[in-house]
Amino acid sequence: MHIDLLSSLLLLLASTTAAHNGHRHQVPHRTKTAPAKPHPTKFSHYLFRFTSANGPVNTSDILSSLQPYGFDMSHLSHTFSESMNGFSALMSDHCVDILKDMVTPNGVQIEPVVTIKRRMQPNPRATTTVNATRTTAISTRTRGHSTTDARSDSRLVRFEPAADVMFVIPPERLQGRDAWQDDATWGLQRISQRDPIAGVTPETPVDTLSFRYHFDESAGEGVDIYVLDSGINTEHVDFGGRATVEYVSKRIADLEGSADLGGHGTHTAGSAGSTRYGVAKKANIRGIKILNVNGTGLSSDAMAGIEYVIKRHRERRSSPSFRGSVLSLSFGVPLPPDLVANPSLIAEAPVLEKGLMAAAAEGIHIVTAAGNENMDACRDSPSRLSRETGLGGKYAASVISVGAADVFDRRADFSNWGRCVTTYAPGQDVLSTWIGSDNATHVGDGTSMAAPHVAGLVAYLLGVRPDLRDDVLGMKNLIMNTAGKGVIQNVADDSDRKLVAYNGVAG
Ligand SMILES: *[C@@H]1O[C@H](CO)[C@@H](O)[C@H](O)[C@H]1NC(C)=O
Ligand SMILES: *[C@@H]1O[C@H](CO)[C@@H](O)[C@H](O)[C@H]1NC(C)=O
Ligand SMILES: *[C@@H]1O[C@H](CO)[C@@H](O)[C@H](O)[C@H]1NC(C)=O
Ligand SMILES: *[C@@H]1O[C@H](CO)[C@@H](O)[C@H](O)[C@H]1NC(C)=O
Repeated sequence: MHIDLLSSLLLLLASTTAAHNGHRHQVPHRTKTAPAKPHPTKFSHYLFRFTSANGPVNTSDILSSLQPYGFDMSHLSHTFSESMNGFSALMSDHCVDILKDMVTPNGVQIEPVVTIKRRMQPNPRATTTVNATRTTAISTRTRGHSTTDARSDSRLVRFEPAADVMFVIPPERLQGRDAWQDDATWGLQRISQRDPIAGVTPETPVDTLSFRYHFDESAGEGVDIYVLDSGINTEHVDFGGRATVEYVSKRIADLEGSADLGGHGTHTAGSAGSTRYGVAKKANIRGIKILNVNGTGLSSDAMAGIEYVIKRHRERRSSPSFRGSVLSLSFGVPLPPDLVANPSLIAEAPVLEKGLMAAAAEGIHIVTAAGNENMDACRDSPSRLSRETGLGGKYAASVISVGAADVFDRRADFSNWGRCVTTYAPGQDVLSTWIGSDNATHVGDGTSMAAPHVAGLVAYLLGVRPDLRDDVLGMKNLIMNTAGKGVIQNVADDSDRKLVAYNGVAG
């Protein structure tokens, strides 16, 4: 599957061969004799992560020690901080063997850099780019003041407790104002009611702004949503200046700068937090550009992006207005079969998963697309990190993985499914922001579209439940306990909870 599909760049590099300088020196801490290598040596892009129990390994020491064996410092792409403890580089198999001998046995995890892909599908019904009107009708109403409008009674937040219920939001925790948006997408309406949307038929045009969204006016204010994607059209009127692009992987910056050339990142950011199409209309949207115009990228760049997010999150924590960090991921990669067969092999987990666990341990809430392969989501990375039991580590289970559903609460036929789907969310006929102008829109399908609805929902809930700011497992429980249960049709797997994400605002 995709894990074998290194990008064309990688394939090119991997097939490039070159003779190394060959001579072997005494290697420090050498414990075994490396087998003789035939010439020429093969070069590949790898991610390296030190797993020593004796604390972090000094990466720059290791790299200097490798230079006499032909390692070229210009082949280093990233050196990761102590939380990741590793690096990525183009390296010969000869140097890889030397490196293995330098550290204690099993002290380094070595993984080929893999291609990650966006989770957007072609939408056969899509009206490509349509114009939006510039005004959004959002009416607000003070909570607790009786008005003649029947909807003002619907201010209580209710939950349908599961057997393992852990959290209930007391109504007094709400920030104070109900807001209604009367020109919303179907997705926004769906996540603000527990029950399916009534009155839609197969003839109803659903890619229109003819639905209604009900939310607490706090709307994710003070929360940072990091969108690891293809960049963001920050000039779009619907971001109202709240969107920035803060990090661009060097490799992609060299090719295409910081702009979103493909639209995927702008679309997902729009569902998470744009004024008209978004769930958390007041959140800060921080673009981390690690995917290219075609929606593909490298796992090493994604790692570097996650590391940036951890650094930024640490800085932001001291700001009085800060209310939490959410990481929205609409990409991934199917797992190799041996890891699928043995989920307890967490030590062997892909380096990217280790990076995500490090982010979760910092209190960063992670939401990911479940994948578009119409298969068990436990066969997908990072989706499998949502497995309820975890994979041997506390933060392995904290990821929220999101499947795609349509307006009738049917699983989208492409969406992954099963126990590793935390919840479903709108992921078909999703209207959101796009590239090309400051008011462009596009209708997209994919778990790529479903995940940012839930990323926005997490940001929104952080506004309502500030006590969960750093409690990633608590937030995941809240999402699951609030969701409509057993609603999703077209899921054959009994271990799938068939949840639909819901913001808990009654009405
Ligand atoms: C790693 O070692 C180099 C010298 O070899 C030193 O300058 C650097 O500070 C060390 N880094 C850490 C994180 O200890
Ligand atoms: C979008 O706006 C342009 C310029 O106002 C107009 O020519 C075009 O027909 C509009 N497209 C749609 C789908 O409304
Ligand atoms: C969208 O923006 C374009 C370019 O600024 C403009 O021509 C068009 O009228 C706008 N459409 C709407 C509906 O605002
Ligand atoms: C994107 O896809 C197009 C069409 O297949 C291709 O020509 C182009 O090289 C790709 N760009 C990147 C950066 O991969």
